[in-house]
Amino acid sequence: MSKRAFIKSYGCQMNVYDATRMADELARQGYEMADAAEGADLILLNTCHIREKAAEKVYSELGRLKGERALIGVAGCVAQAEGEEIIRRQPRVDFVVGPQAYHLLPELIAKAQRGEAPVETDLAEDKFAHLAAPQKRAITARGVTAFLTVQEGCDKFCAFCVVPYTRGGEVSRPVAAIFAEAERLVDAGVREITLLGQNVNAYRGPDGMGGTASLAALVERLAALPGLARLRFTTSHPNDMSADLIAAHRDEPKLMPYLHLPVQAGSDKVLKAMNRKHTAGQYRALIESIRAARPDIALSGDFIVGFPGESDADFEATMALTRDVGYASAYSFKYSPRPGTPAAGREDQVPEPVKAERLQRLQALLTEQQRAFNAGCVGRTLPVLIEKPGKKPGQWVGRSPYLQPVHIPAEAGQVGEIVEVAISSAQGNSLFGAPAGMRRDAA
Ligand code: SAH
Ligand code: SF4
Ligand code: F3S
Repeated sequence: MSKRAFIKSYGCQMNVYDATRMADELARQGYEMADAAEGADLILLNTCHIREKAAEKVYSELGRLKGERALIGVAGCVAQAEGEEIIRRQPRVDFVVGPQAYHLLPELIAKAQRGEAPVETDLAEDKFAHLAAPQKRAITARGVTAFLTVQEGCDKFCAFCVVPYTRGGEVSRPVAAIFAEAERLVDAGVREITLLGQNVNAYRGPDGMGGTASLAALVERLAALPGLARLRFTTSHPNDMSADLIAAHRDEPKLMPYLHLPVQAGSDKVLKAMNRKHTAGQYRALIESIRAARPDIALSGDFIVGFPGESDADFEATMALTRDVGYASAYSFKYSPRPGTPAAGREDQVPEPVKAERLQRLQALLTEQQRAFNAGCVGRTLPVLIEKPGKKPGQWVGRSPYLQPVHIPAEAGQVGEIVEVAISSAQGNSLFGAPAGMRRDAA
């Protein structure tokens, strides 16, 4: 009987992508993927260190798992940040592997099997060049949309953020490696690829001709793949939103009109203290030029409330900016002091109840904006990429260009097809409709 491995991922999409690459490598090592921890031979927790709550989840999960007979490994950003400390706190852990060292998994597993408890947190290598390529069957099983990491790490050092420490400095994968991987994905039925990076628009990959390619150039290159219908990229930093990338949103029909562009805060004082290196006015102007290039673009953002020193007036500036921009969706968080980051040591921390109240107010506004955006889609006809069965029988769920889930009747088409859907209603975060001419919708 073959060995079985279970990977549980927390955190961002880059971890989701890494999990697929680890699964592909483990497949090469003779492991089959299990869909639960119980009874597995190997359990890998692929962790996130971005906020305290995310990091602490790991230890409660480890507590639950300690009775399992499996080899237990901790991967991801907590592994990088805490290293050996993880084994000290939970001796049941057999090995620790940081996000830049996944190509060493076979070696680490072998050492762990010998009882050595290895900890590998080297940041130096290009792990993707050494990891097993995904097999066609595995890609097809993952569906018609896929992630593809093109850039890792961050050089920006925002005062609140652990990413530059857990993922290291900015590194871009070569254009040729990305193109080959995209071809493989498309050949296995993938129709939509989301290019990933901690700062994806800072992408500067070797172009194979002695120069570097920008993200816009990469998008243009990938858009030439005939079977590929849609491209997206995330997450972008406002300061790397270059003119050629904005132009790509105007000129490249395969690039979807949706952009995640975090601003974090609306007050210049707070932006400066966060080390974001732009003002609220510069962000507003940027949004204006993006909308001039692609008027229907849907914007998404990230916000932090209660950064040290944030006054009521500062927070009102965040509310005002949010009102002015109008987001189709967004993520917002209470500031969480992270060990080793400059802001964590500040004395002017904002009290918890103040953070909670601000978060509630901002989230109410963002929810209202999302509702308004979704309601505005009713009556329009949108191209929907059919992804998988919906919750109800006889229903598919797919994605609009603006990343909204759209529920349609199963007769509308097949998984992987793009169908023109007349949107008839919006409920919660989802849209409902049917192809024009088909009377019944899926609601
Ligand atoms: N590279 C991206 C964001 C990566 S982290 C960018 O620059 O925008 C994802 C989000 O988590 C951030 O945008 C921020 O909103 C949030 N975040 C990061 N560190 C945080 C902290 N210490 N407390 C609360 N939220 C945080
Ligand atoms: Fe973190 Fe800032 Fe880098 Fe984004 S740009 S990953 S928030 S340090
Ligand atoms: Fe979390 Fe690491 Fe991603 S800290 S958000 S898993 S880069």
